[in-house]
Amino acid sequence: MSRNVDVPRYWYNIVPDLPVPLPPPRDPLDDRESRIGLLVKILPSRLIDQEFTSEHWIEIPEKVRELYRKMGRPTPLNPAENFARAIGRPDVKIYYKFEGVLPSGSHKLNTAIAQVYYALEDGAKEVVTETSAGQWGTAVAIAASLFGIRATIFMTRASYRSKPYRRYLMQMYGATVIESPSNLTELGKKFLEQNPEHPGSLGIAIGESVEYVLQEGGVERKYLPGSVMEFVLIHQTVIGLEALQQLPEEPDYVIGCVGGGSNFAGLTYPMIGMKIKGEGFTKTQFIAVEAAAAPKMTKGEYRYDHPDTAGILPLVKMYTLGKDFVPPPIHAAGLRYHGAAPSLSLLIKLGYVKPIAYPQEEVLKAGLLFARTEGIMPAPESAHAIRAVIDIAKKAPPNSVILFNLSGHGLLDLDAYRKVLGENIDTTSISF
Ligand SMILES: Cc1ncc(COP(=O)(O)O)c(C=O)c1O
Repeated sequence: MSRNVDVPRYWYNIVPDLPVPLPPPRDPLDDRESRIGLLVKILPSRLIDQEFTSEHWIEIPEKVRELYRKMGRPTPLNPAENFARAIGRPDVKIYYKFEGVLPSGSHKLNTAIAQVYYALEDGAKEVVTETSAGQWGTAVAIAASLFGIRATIFMTRASYRSKPYRRYLMQMYGATVIESPSNLTELGKKFLEQNPEHPGSLGIAIGESVEYVLQEGGVERKYLPGSVMEFVLIHQTVIGLEALQQLPEEPDYVIGCVGGGSNFAGLTYPMIGMKIKGEGFTKTQFIAVEAAAAPKMTKGEYRYDHPDTAGILPLVKMYTLGKDFVPPPIHAAGLRYHGAAPSLSLLIKLGYVKPIAYPQEEVLKAGLLFARTEGIMPAPESAHAIRAVIDIAKKAPPNSVILFNLSGHGLLDLDAYRKVLGENIDTTSISF
């Protein structure tokens, strides 16, 4: 299915094409330091430019394109005929874009490579981030190793202990992985004083990463975020731009899972942009799938909120469950996030994207059915998209075309499948 495609020369920025202006980030009305000012200190400067740019197309640095190619881009776009047959709709054409071929196992490497490149441009000696399940941390560890720069990753204690293989993977790539809360920051110490065995949270780990970068003024250390920010979504558009070259026909439905929104935006924004401008995809429906355990798009409010629990980052307008929302510990940890990226939230509000939510067990069953018919074990996050594909395919008119993003493989998530579905699940018991 990979016709003669190459890695795109530009990333796409949907913001200037949105039908109404994107509400800008805001500082909260308190007496603490400006959060927007803080962002400028901790992020690589080119990322700040990209966050606020009105350019439609952003040139991908040649070095980044070269590394995209070495890491496996363009990624394949394949038909899933066996899967379509297994769900009783052999007439429906299902295609998937497979980001799991990247050595990080997910799409996260697309932005990690770009962000580390820009950090180096600013003279950084170390990149810093947080991770819970470890997908983002792994991508940063790999990108840092490619550029020969130090990576420090604050990993929530619960995951540090329960997901040792992700931690080993980051460590094997040379990253320093720190159990969060830690003694390296004042924030970490405060939580450890309250409870020396504190399980940690993504909010605390973000707070620790930011404080650690600020300890030396954000000169040699730079903070790298894994989702939600507009520049992350921009970098991920390589996925959709490649898909535009690879697709044999315009899909009726395009589907992706949403944690913060980056893989979904990556696949769909080049197409939604064309729809907005009347250049194509006029009949295509775009469907964003979330975990029922973190239902920000289907049950959240559209309002200004902090993207992080500690309230260190600026307020952004988004669908949110509130920054203090603590989702139950589901296995698709990458979807346990309280908000959806501002541009995606606006597109939902305007009706360009339809959100839908599914509970964990059905999702993992759908993932297993995909593995047993198409040979790829999907990440539990990506399996949310697969679950939606089943419902949509079943109701679709004859000969419909569906495209979805298989954002990652699940080879390090086998424990999730085993714990929820058991060890010897019979194929006949997987029915929809
Ligand atoms: C494989 C995979 N898919 C999806 C996501 C969700 O993130 P986003 O919505 O930013 O794509 C994650 C997050 O960790 C992930 O690891």
